[in-house]
Amino acid sequence: MQEQAIAWRHAGDDIGFVPTMGALHAGHDSLVVRARKENQRVIASIFVNPSQFGPNEDFDTYPRPFDQDRARLEALGVDAIFHPPVDQIYPPAFKTRVDPGPLAEVLEGRSRPGHFAGVLTVVLKLFNLTQPKRAYFGQKDFQQVVLVRQLVRDLALPVRIVAVPTVRYPDGLAMSSRNAYLDPSQRELAPVVHQAITEAARAFTTGETDAARLEALARDRLTATAGLALDYLAVIDDTTLSRPERAIPGSVLVIAVKLGLIRLIDNVVLGAERL
Ligand code: PAJ
Repeated sequence: MQEQAIAWRHAGDDIGFVPTMGALHAGHDSLVVRARKENQRVIASIFVNPSQFGPNEDFDTYPRPFDQDRARLEALGVDAIFHPPVDQIYPPAFKTRVDPGPLAEVLEGRSRPGHFAGVLTVVLKLFNLTQPKRAYFGQKDFQQVVLVRQLVRDLALPVRIVAVPTVRYPDGLAMSSRNAYLDPSQRELAPVVHQAITEAARAFTTGETDAARLEALARDRLTATAGLALDYLAVIDDTTLSRPERAIPGSVLVIAVKLGLIRLIDNVVLGAERL
């Protein structure tokens, strides 16, 4: 992959890179479509990265419908699909790991220790293998975008990070490969996550800026829903991830819940979206 990518760059082509773990849906498609528009070459990777899964997480059962994924990416016109075996990325002698620092300890990182070290390590290696001018990430995984931008800044990587808006089902649920785990009754409950944060975002657009009150609005919406456990819900600054007293346009309301054993995450940028 690396030789091909270097040859394309030497020929003067920009490479747009879309890293994924497969089980592709319309959310992934939107990243590829955007990459296709902005670059001469597009590479998508499909790699279920073991180092970002905790010991009790779903690495073994994560869906891997490779033939379907390949057909989907080919239909979207990618130039290459990079689908390495685990030992190509992590050969037996592999030792180095990216330390993402304190922003990886909060929110998702608090519930998933080591997750972002695994993400940044594989993203850095994938960048080196695919030589992108631009790399495309979903706003849905907001903290991931923040940490990848930090990686690029801190280590002076010559790549531009493009964040793409979250693609949702008509009922508001953010598309996610893990939605496949929801049973029909959980699937029916799941849109309440988006409804709760949208309600708070609406309150922000009509003048409520007190972070605690915005959080309470969203929380109240959820406590009425049986079978749903809140992991975190917070108004945060979009670069430091710290919690302000008052929300400003661009602050992000982030949420994670558990529906049974399934964890769902979502977020909304305050003052930015049509609601
Ligand atoms: P994965 O969960 O497969 O997601 C791949 C990319 O698709 C991520 O950038 C994610 O934010 C984006 N995405 C997922 N659902 C989306 C939606 N509903 N709308 C828009 N974009 C969406 O995220 C990962 O894989 C991994 O951590 C990875 C970056 C590949 C590193 O292993």
